[in-house]
Amino acid sequence: MSIIEVIQQRRSVRTYTGESLSQEHVERIEKYISQLQSPFGVKARIQLIHTNANDPQPIKLGTYGWVSGAKDYLALIYEEGTLAETGAACIFEQLILYCTELGLGTCWLGGSFNRKDFKRQIKLQSDEKLRIVSPVGYPGNKKRFIESFVVKADKNHHTRKPFEANFFYKDFSVPLTKQDAAIYSLPLEMVRLAPSANNTQPWRILFDDGLTHFYRTFSFGFSAIDIGIALCHFWETCKEMNIDGHFEILDRPNQKDFRYTISWINEKPLY
Ligand SMILES: Cc1cc2nc3c(=O)[nH]c(=O)nc-3n(C[C@H](O)[C@H](O)[C@H](O)COP(=O)(O)O)c2cc1C
Repeated sequence: MSIIEVIQQRRSVRTYTGESLSQEHVERIEKYISQLQSPFGVKARIQLIHTNANDPQPIKLGTYGWVSGAKDYLALIYEEGTLAETGAACIFEQLILYCTELGLGTCWLGGSFNRKDFKRQIKLQSDEKLRIVSPVGYPGNKKRFIESFVVKADKNHHTRKPFEANFFYKDFSVPLTKQDAAIYSLPLEMVRLAPSANNTQPWRILFDDGLTHFYRTFSFGFSAIDIGIALCHFWETCKEMNIDGHFEILDRPNQKDFRYTISWINEKPLY
């Protein structure tokens, strides 16, 4: 499956069948994790946790009722540092997309999980942080009441702001058109579809022909993580389209409401 199709198909899944992952799926996920390379020199790792449903005393991993029927979880662990959360989120989303391709459900969880339960299963080093987990498993057919409630409460859940609302051309007062974005219109469209905490889509992009500058809101919430997910979608799409470029932190000022994060530098002439 192409990464573009995978990104278009991915949805947060909060209801699972109650089955544990098959051995084949466990092995594939473990293998994929072992090959992941974290970008921007970030130190991060992902652990697959099984609750061993058949164990007389199964491991308890609380999600306050938000997730049901999940027997396996992915936990994102990273060390503090420059772009730590952003880089860690970028590798976690690569894995989420891989699981989607395998037909598995996932759901980024930043708030709806019991940290103590998860930390008991992960041997965190003193400089390591756990901020995100995701169930991973076989999606259940029926949506539970709480799930339909989240989707409704999250007004535009599954929907995203239009292209021109978050993407700008050379100046934050000029909305970017797909025509001006040229070959980057598809990578940017994939950014638009990226999941974010409460679907806030806190990223802003300033496109300046060969340069694509990424910004995020100043909020204390999850925006550093959300922008990492957006960067993953952009990067994976560029790779699939054979668009050569690289990420670099440039000397750029923040904007009134937005913090500069990183830029993508196109390697070849755009037109
Ligand atoms: C960083 C982050 C944290 C999230 N935390 C939660 C959470 O605690 N509980 C939850 O039910 N969904 C959580 N979500 C899922 C979002 O609500 C969901 O991705 C967003 O509404 C878009 O919907 P979609 O993933 O189906 O496209 C989180 C998503 C992200 C990216």
